[in-house]
Amino acid sequence: MTIRHLLDIDTLASTDIERLISSARFYKNAIATKTVNRDRLAGKIILTVFYENSTRTKVSFEIAAKRLGADVINWDINTSAVKKGETFGDTIGYLNAFEPDALIIRHHEHSAAQYVAGRSACPVINGGDGWNQHPSQALLDAFTLMEHKGRLEGLTIAICGDVAHSRVANSNLALMTKMGAKVRIIAPKLLQPQKIKYDNVSVFDTMEEGLKGCDAVMMLRLQKERMEQAAIPNDSAYFNSFGLTPDRLALAKPDVLVMHPGPMNRGIEIAGDVADDPNRSIIFKQGANGIPMRMAILDWAIPR
Ligand code: NCD
Repeated sequence: MTIRHLLDIDTLASTDIERLISSARFYKNAIATKTVNRDRLAGKIILTVFYENSTRTKVSFEIAAKRLGADVINWDINTSAVKKGETFGDTIGYLNAFEPDALIIRHHEHSAAQYVAGRSACPVINGGDGWNQHPSQALLDAFTLMEHKGRLEGLTIAICGDVAHSRVANSNLALMTKMGAKVRIIAPKLLQPQKIKYDNVSVFDTMEEGLKGCDAVMMLRLQKERMEQAAIPNDSAYFNSFGLTPDRLALAKPDVLVMHPGPMNRGIEIAGDVADDPNRSIIFKQGANGIPMRMAILDWAIPR
C-alpha cells in the first residue's frame, strides 16, 4: 500500500482538497456536538518533530491528534541529541526506528519534509519546510474562506507582504489557483517571488492598486530570519507603504475578509484595529479552524 504523505499542495488533486475541506467541516461539527469518534486514532502514536518555533501548527496538530484518540510524542530540539552533533538524517533514522504511526515535521530547510518522507515508513505531514510549503495552513485557510464565502472559485484573493520568503504564500498560491480563485500578489519588488508557476496570478507593488475589489486579503509577516540581507530598511517605513490600515482596506470590497496565518506583527504588516475588526477579520477563526482541518488531515493520512 502506498503511504499517503502531505508534503505540498501541488500533488493534491482538487478532489482531495474538496474532500479534506468537507471532512474538516464534519469534524468541526463533531467537536461542537461532542460526538468525535475517539476510536479513530486510538492506539496510534503521532510524533511531532519541530526544528523551528511554532504556536499554532504544533499545538493544533497535537489537539487534533488527541481529539481523535492518538497519543502524541513531541520531540524537542532543545533536549535532543542535535546539540551533541547528530545529523538530521540520523535523527530521522532513529525516530523512524521507533515506528510512529505518523510524523509531523517542521524544518528550516527547503524540501526537508520530502527528505523525511523518503526515509519514513509512516505518513509524513509537512508542518512547514523553509520557504517551500505549509500545506495544512493553506487547507485551513481554504476551509475558513469556504465557511464565509461559500466558494473559492471566482474569488479575488490578495496575498500581501513578504511573499518571497513565505511557505504560506506558496501553498496558498497553489491551492487557491487550483480551486479557481484569482490571486494578486502585493509586495515591494524585493519581496516578490522570482517566478510564478500558476495561472491567474497578477503582481502589484502598491497596496492602493492591488487591493481594489478584493474579496479577501491575506497578510504575511516579514520573515527576517529567511532574508539574506535586510530587504526592508525599517519597520515603520514598511508599515507606511505596505501596512494594512483601515483606509487601505476600504479600497477592497465592502465585505472583504482579512486573514493572517500568524504570528502577527501589529503595526508592521497590519494595523491592530484591522486585525481586531469584528466584521472583517477572520484571523482568530483561521487559528481555531486549524484543529478540525488537522483532524481531517490525520484521518486522511493514517490508514484505518
Ligand atoms: C507561519 C509559518 O510558520 O510558516 N505560521 C504558521 O504556521 N501559522 C507563518 C510565519 O512564520 O510567518
